[in-house]
This record gives sequence, C-alpha cells and structure tokens, in this order.
Amino acid sequence: MTDRYAVIGNPIAHSKSPTIHAAFAAQTGEPIEYGRILGDLNDFAGDVRRFVAEGGRGLNVTVPFKTDAFELLDDLSEQARTAGAVNTLIVRDGGLLRGDNTDGVGLLRDLTENHGFALAGKRVLLLGAGGAARGVLRPLFDARPAELLIANRTAEKAEALATQLATSAIASPETRADAQIDQQETAVSGCGLVALRSQRFDLIINATSSGLDDQVPAIPDHCLAAGGWVYDLLYANEPTPFCRWGQTHGAARVLDGLGMLVEQAAESFWLWRGVRPQTAPVIDLLRHG
Ligand code: ATR
Repeated sequence: MTDRYAVIGNPIAHSKSPTIHAAFAAQTGEPIEYGRILGDLNDFAGDVRRFVAEGGRGLNVTVPFKTDAFELLDDLSEQARTAGAVNTLIVRDGGLLRGDNTDGVGLLRDLTENHGFALAGKRVLLLGAGGAARGVLRPLFDARPAELLIANRTAEKAEALATQLATSAIASPETRADAQIDQQETAVSGCGLVALRSQRFDLIINATSSGLDDQVPAIPDHCLAAGGWVYDLLYANEPTPFCRWGQTHGAARVLDGLGMLVEQAAESFWLWRGVRPQTAPVIDLLRHG
C-alpha cells in the first residue's frame, strides 16, 4: 500500500520538496507518494484535518504555516519547541499528530557531513532573528562553537533570542547535563548589525530574508576571519546576494541553502519511514538537473 505525504505552503508551486521526496522514494524503494497542497491562509487547521482524514501520513510545512503548525500541535519535539516552528508533521497510528523541526539538523548535516566544517571551537555569526534564524539556532549552539553571536538589523530581537536560547538550554531537562557544559564553552549573545565593527568570525550564516529583496544585511566589510566560510540559508539558481558578498570578501568557501534543503527533507523522510536516504545524488540532481 502507498502512503501519502505532501508539502503544504502558500505559495507552493515553486517547492522542490516533491522532487526531493520522489527521488528518495525511488532510491529507497519506500512505497510513498508525495504531493503539494496550496494551504488556505485562513484555515491551515482545516487543511491538516482533511489531509489526515483522507489517510495522509505526514506533511512538510513551509512558509507561511510553520508557526501555525507549532500552535496547532500539542505533541512537539524539543527541536520544534526551541524553534517555535514545525516543518515536519508526523501522523501516528490512530491519527495522533506530532510536530518536529528538521531545519537546524539539515543545516548542521550539510555543514559538517557534506562539507567537513567542524563547528566546535569556532566563532560563528548568525545574521537575522526571525523564523529562519530560530529554526537553526539550537543545533548550532549544541555543536559547541566557541562563540555564537546573533546579529540583527533590530538589535533587541537578536538580544531576546540569545537570552531565550541560553534559558531554554538550561531549562530543558533532557539536555541539562550537556547544556551546563555548553554554558561554559559557548558564549552566546545578541547584538545589532552595527555593533559588529571590530569582530571576526570563522563562519557567517545569513538567516535573514534580505536576499529576497536582492539585498545583503549591512555588516562591516571585515567581519570574516581569514579562511572563514559563508553560508546563506537561501537557495537560488544563481549565486544569492549574500553568496556574492562572500565571494567578494575573501570567503574560503561560499555555500547556499540547497544542501540544507535536501538534508532537512532527508531527516523528515527518516522520521516518517525510519529509512535514511542518500542525499548527495539528490543535491546533485537539483544542482545540475
Ligand atoms: P524568516 O521566517 O524568513 O526568518 P522573518 O521572521 O520575517 O522571516 O524574519 C526576517 C529576518 O530578516 C529578520 O531578522 C529581519 O530583520 P528585522 O528583525 O530587523 O526586521 C531580517 N531582514 C529582512 N530584510 C533585511 C535587510 N534588508 N537587511 C537586514 N536584515 C533584514
């Protein structure tokens, strides 16, 4: 029997998730079909209810419904709780729904496994304090960089997020032992973009939506340490504005979000099916067609 999955968002026509999951299914032989749903902006809950009633087994949730999904579900993974957002919905036997968030894991896998970047001991700058930044924050923190600085155009939002992260790391019982070590090893703080003037980072991650307006966050020219890397969560067919910034500012590596997109999908596939697909051929397929 074929199990049904889908991605829900609005707009949704551009989503690459159906292509990615079709490739995973072909590769693993898992009997699934994966569609796309144009979600009703005023009735996300109704769309989910209908999908489940028709036998659906899981959803990927994308813009603008990740927070709606978080608010709808009671059973949430720690990742989803920290992110305040759900990108993966799992339908359990009996129709019970669980929410998870695989965005941060996707970023970490792409950085560390696909590209060999070791975060431990590094100075990391995360640009942005909106939903995308929240989604990747906790796994970045757990990888124990020496410093994790969140910088945002609106400084207060970065400061609030840094405080929240430090507090949640201490408060969550299942990670308390780890968190205490993290507290000692990782300096986490938030600031505005202008406060970055004299600092240098080994990795700068762009989690702002500035690229959608063809802009780059206003960071000083010399933020990147020698040998530093640049990662844009955004993915486009040509280099994103932030990737171009990295190229012209001497980044040793410049990465866009395509690898993360495929890795977060692979993590969702694993949560649903208990099977881990290979991601390299699928990244290659999307990159080169
Ligand atoms: P997303 O879900 O994509 O994160 P969001 O929650 O609306 O979207 O957050 C957008 C983020 O990008 C914010 O951090 C925003 O900065 P502000 O908090 O100051 O609004 C940031 N952002 C958007 N356009 C930007 C620009 N041109 N320069 C710098 N930061 C920008």
